[in-house]
Amino acid sequence: MLISADDAVTRLKAGNIVALPTETVYGLAGLALSEVSVQKIFDLKKRPATNPLIVHVWNLGMAEKLANFSDLAYRISSLFWPGPLTLVLPKKGVVPDLVTAGNDTVALRMPKHPVFCEILKKVDQPLAAPSANPANRTSPTMPEHLFDLFGDNCPPTVDGGKCLIGLESTVLDLSKRNPKILRYGPLSQKDIITKINGISISPPDPIPNVSKISSGDRAPGQGRVHYAPSTPLYLYPSLNRLLEEKLSGNDLILVYSDQDEKAVHARGWKTIKLSKNENAKEIAQSLYDTFSKADKSAMKRLHITLFPSNGSISDAINDRIRRAAHELVN
Ligand code: TXA
Ligand code: MG
Repeated sequence: MLISADDAVTRLKAGNIVALPTETVYGLAGLALSEVSVQKIFDLKKRPATNPLIVHVWNLGMAEKLANFSDLAYRISSLFWPGPLTLVLPKKGVVPDLVTAGNDTVALRMPKHPVFCEILKKVDQPLAAPSANPANRTSPTMPEHLFDLFGDNCPPTVDGGKCLIGLESTVLDLSKRNPKILRYGPLSQKDIITKINGISISPPDPIPNVSKISSGDRAPGQGRVHYAPSTPLYLYPSLNRLLEEKLSGNDLILVYSDQDEKAVHARGWKTIKLSKNENAKEIAQSLYDTFSKADKSAMKRLHITLFPSNGSISDAINDRIRRAAHELVN
């Protein structure tokens, strides 16, 4: 059911949960300081209680009530908030253990989407909002995805159209001595280093090589299969390698450009296009929608290569593709 922003405010204040647009992906929001609301989020997502949630704030004052900010945290938040950056910081006592999965840190983000911000402001309380997908599925980037993912259990949704960025925020851990990226996202390590002289940031742990659903991973929620379409996706190191395969009419190839599409069509195989000319922003924005369309195409197998270009968001695109892959082909 689509609802208005004002209706969302009323439902949130009453302790209920709603799906809201952000500039990255749709979030499933509830009052972060209410265990009852937060439990509803975990239940609907079937999210393991070991995977903590991001808490959204609309100003620094609200953030300071929830976490301890170091000088570096103040600097980074002043440079990149509002925006697609989540900071993991030492938490204060008011944040329920349920939100942080018992960790002594809390993940905070100040989103940039005007509708989400207006709702946050009117609710005037921090909102916990993980991506609005059942655990281990791709995040919704438009309301139709929510209907597809949840069916009859679809939460009331505020329609914000297509999310501008299309991939989840960068998660940066500032709670330890050395800053560390926990999840690649729209803001790259380089984007942060360029703005802050002398800072050194560790990259995320490598993705485990086993094709199994997340359990016992070091960074919570960073399991191997995590952003997956339901049709098996095969990942190749290059297009040339993919073109060596013997595929059939039940195979669909995801391509990055008109040129790649031509090469695949020359083999007589079907394609679905992420972009016309390897445009990274366009690919990020359409990745999950393309997974969703590919799922609906009723093909038996999907095939993709890593995105070959370097750019701010390329690491995040390839991270999500690796996690979505059912099998890595050598
Ligand atoms: O763009 C986004 O971040 C979206 C929108 C809705 O804001 N939200 C989102 O939330 O992607 P979620 O729950 O799907 O992903 C949150 C990530 C997970 O990988 C989770 O494990 C990590 O942040 N996280 C949350 N709290 C953490 C903590 N205290 N320590 C380490 N990682 C944490
Ligand atoms: Mg998620």
